[in-house]
Amino acid sequence: MMSGPRLSANPGAYPLTRLRRNRRDDWSRRLVGETRLGVEDLIWPVFVCEGDGWREPVESMPGVERLSIDFVVEAAGDAAALGIPAIALFPVVDPDRKTPDGEESANPDNLVCRAVRAVAEAHDSLGIVCDVALDPFTTHGQDGLVRDGIVVNDETVQALVRQALVQAEAGCTVIAPSDMMDGRVGAIRAALDADGHEHVRIMSYAAKYASAFYGPFRDAVGSAAQLGQADKRTYQIDPANGDEALREVALDIAEGADMVMVKPGMPYLDIVHRVKEAFGMPTYVYQVSGEYAMLAGAAARGWLDGERVMLESLSAFKRAGADGVLSYFAVQAARRLRAG
Ligand code: PBG
Repeated sequence: MMSGPRLSANPGAYPLTRLRRNRRDDWSRRLVGETRLGVEDLIWPVFVCEGDGWREPVESMPGVERLSIDFVVEAAGDAAALGIPAIALFPVVDPDRKTPDGEESANPDNLVCRAVRAVAEAHDSLGIVCDVALDPFTTHGQDGLVRDGIVVNDETVQALVRQALVQAEAGCTVIAPSDMMDGRVGAIRAALDADGHEHVRIMSYAAKYASAFYGPFRDAVGSAAQLGQADKRTYQIDPANGDEALREVALDIAEGADMVMVKPGMPYLDIVHRVKEAFGMPTYVYQVSGEYAMLAGAAARGWLDGERVMLESLSAFKRAGADGVLSYFAVQAARRLRAG
């Protein structure tokens, strides 16, 4: 895949060539289809909250809910039954468990670890992805430790290692560092291996941009209020940059990443394409909360055909070169794909 177009120097022009011929019927359109979206391409991000038998809507993400662990287990079963390979769990941490240094992230009995254990026990064939970053756990909403107003790198990496270890211990099979600290993939890989978790995969948020499209996610996990007017531009990539994203990906691969990710998705398809071309790695893309909100919000008002924009956007990620997509539409898309 991804070799350049094989255009002959002098293609027989119209009327010899009519590109509409192949588009004429459904069977020939299907026959010339270049990319296929399948349920095996989908990873489903799920918000986990405290409680039992509790579910509540995320206002800025129509159709998305925060679920207590028992409902997460049930939802994970639905996802597995549909053939979705993996889910990604994101904890909505109680405000009274948040601290400046986010120590709750390394508590083996924290919300996300309890959710991982429950899902792993109930559905052992489902991949479980866990974010590594401190923002759900810190009172300031930053992904790392703040010293003298700066998010410090190396001390944060130590905290991220502790977080990754408790998550792996709980049964998480894919550690996904989303914090963008330098050197964290290598440190986490070494620690996982030293602790007997050499089979645990690392999917690095390798090219993660300082994006305004994460807004609804920060509402969903309750980190928006903590972060306030602050931003993450001292560690996430400037949306203006492309070459820098490739350097980030190269480093994460060198440090031992098994899979790499680009995030957000739709505004960064050029980056997805470049990453896949340059490295040929298993490459994933995150259709983030703001992208979901745009599509689902417009669909809810009848301004867009929700099902069609969902499938079109997901297929576009595949065309750009992604091997899979993290999407809040995963279950809806899987149902639609299964229905044929
Ligand atoms: C945490 C994290 C974020 C997302 C995934 N992990 C937010 C952020 O970096 O501020 C965003 C996902 C989304 O918007 O759907 N570091």
